Amino acid sequence: MLQRVKALFGKTSVPQSQIPESDNIPQHIAIIMDGNGRWAKSRGLPRMAGHHSGMKTVKRITMAANRLGVKYLTLYAFSTENWKRPKAEVEFLMKLPQEFLSIELKDLMENNVQVRMMGYRGDLPSHTLQAVEEAIERTAGNTGLVLNFALNYGSRKEMIEAVRSISEAVAEGKLDPSDINESHMEEHLLTAGLPDPDLLIRTSGELRLSNFMLWQLAYSEMWFTDVYWPEFTEAHFHEAVRVYQMRARRYGGV
Ligand code: IPE
Ligand code: IPE
Ligand code: MG
Repeated sequence: MLQRVKALFGKTSVPQSQIPESDNIPQHIAIIMDGNGRWAKSRGLPRMAGHHSGMKTVKRITMAANRLGVKYLTLYAFSTENWKRPKAEVEFLMKLPQEFLSIELKDLMENNVQVRMMGYRGDLPSHTLQAVEEAIERTAGNTGLVLNFALNYGSRKEMIEAVRSISEAVAEGKLDPSDINESHMEEHLLTAGLPDPDLLIRTSGELRLSNFMLWQLAYSEMWFTDVYWPEFTEAHFHEAVRVYQMRARRYGGV
């Protein structure tokens, strides 16, 4: 009964370390990693310390997802709106991929993890992009978990770009407007070839999407927690998956 109530509200505070059932693991989990700044503030630390600590959570949850047999893990690392932050913070955030990958690439390789990136590459500093591209290249042959970083990602921009590409096909006479369907959109989104997320997790107590995967989350199950990203553990992650396993997905049916 308690589990049922939790499933309805999708919000829990006490993590339980029960491992989810192995026969209904979400294929694709997307996470809005939020609360680094507030975590730091609550400890009297600078915001950067929160981002640094959050990087350790990225490793922890990547390994946890890999162990569970999740196929795709998409992590929202930097939004197209995050450029509005103070310059020093943006610069710090843009150094994290390099730091993360220089420490963790070896382990990611050993665990057969394939790194990908979804976002607008053009605006990224070259040192950031280089580190990411190198990781993508080196892990391209790995067949385990796909670790997809949403970096300089924004869903509205993604949809506008898709509409632009489709419009070009129409203007060139290659596509009739009356033939446009969902597949055309999906082919032009940054997630082309990826299944939609089955489960969305957002940490830090915020109950919004913040321009994340607006198209792709149409039928995803959502789970929110008050826990800040730096303190999000494997037990919280398991809790989210177990709640997911209790949900009935109907897709508009009965
Ligand atoms: C999430 O933590 C990380 C990024 C958005 C890059 P925040 O930096 O948003 O932390 P809060 O929300 O201010 O606590
Ligand atoms: C969303 O978090 C972006 C990432 C987690 C990368 P924000 O902290 O930027 O979202 P808002 O501003 O609270 O909506
Ligand atoms: Mg935030």
